[in-house]
Amino acid sequence: MTPDLSREGLAQLLALEDFSPIYEEADRVRKEAVGDTVHIRALLEFSNHCRRKCAYCGLRAPRKDLPRYRMTPEEILASVRSAFEVGYRTIVLQSGEDPWYTPKLLGEIVQEIKRTTDMAVTLGCGELSREDYALLRQAGADRYLLKHETADEDLYQSLHPDGTLRERVNCLRTLKTLGYETGSGFMVGLPGQTPDVLAKDLLLLKDIPCDMAGIGPFLPHPETPLRDAAPGSAELTRRCVALARLLLPRANLPATTALTVRGDNGRVFSGGANVVMRKITPNAYKRQYEIYPAALPDTDIPAQRKLLEDQIRALGRVPL
Ligand code: 5AD
Repeated sequence: MTPDLSREGLAQLLALEDFSPIYEEADRVRKEAVGDTVHIRALLEFSNHCRRKCAYCGLRAPRKDLPRYRMTPEEILASVRSAFEVGYRTIVLQSGEDPWYTPKLLGEIVQEIKRTTDMAVTLGCGELSREDYALLRQAGADRYLLKHETADEDLYQSLHPDGTLRERVNCLRTLKTLGYETGSGFMVGLPGQTPDVLAKDLLLLKDIPCDMAGIGPFLPHPETPLRDAAPGSAELTRRCVALARLLLPRANLPATTALTVRGDNGRVFSGGANVVMRKITPNAYKRQYEIYPAALPDTDIPAQRKLLEDQIRALGRVPL
């Protein structure tokens, strides 16, 4: 069967009563295009300072009750080394938008990681100028994650008082032209979001075109303006991941952490996903990186890597 992947077609597919034929098709396309490998990435959340006021995010600048931290370059490098030693070959360095880490300093950290390991380095540090993205690319950064969050201009504006969708998309296009493997993504279940908006989200991934896309359910955080909103559905999120697989057969699609928070651990890989991230953030900081509420286990880098590898093998897939 050939699903209709136009804007109207996508919106209709999302609303199907029985989505199982699409899951099967997404799984087939995933297997054919990227095989059975599940890539395990180490995620280090190195600063929870953020200058932005995004309405949904627990790290938003106006939040005064949250203790803020910054890891020193030495702490960052020690965490990265621990991950490298147990087999991780990609490190994702994520933070709020925190100008304390100048692109020069970040670049030095990236260079040191590339000098001492053979890890791929992914950055997720928000919107920067072309010059800064270029400097980080030159320092050795391989990939950049910058989710567009929502492709609807009005919804984008209502959630992001200090930015525009156009600026966001410009950053993504810049990252592509600089040779980064570029990741975008969006949240599912934002207040006011319709199936048509999700169709636009999916088509924007294709338009950029993204090498990676993180699609996760919106989870209301009690210390944000969206505290009383309903959480996004895990099922609808998985449907979006499956459709992203059909639109971008070779993309790296993580089963997002937010999705595992919403449960169904075994099924998160069934509809097209081929990547998973594990937080390696030290315990002293981990619970302060509270983008959305989640019960987090203590970090145990070797044990958690091993457990995840076993879980992936039990699903008939191949951890890498
Ligand atoms: N619920 C779900 N996802 C969120 N993010 C931020 N806040 C929330 C929330 N309340 C996601 C955004 C961001 C990523 C780091 O986390 O998509 O890009």
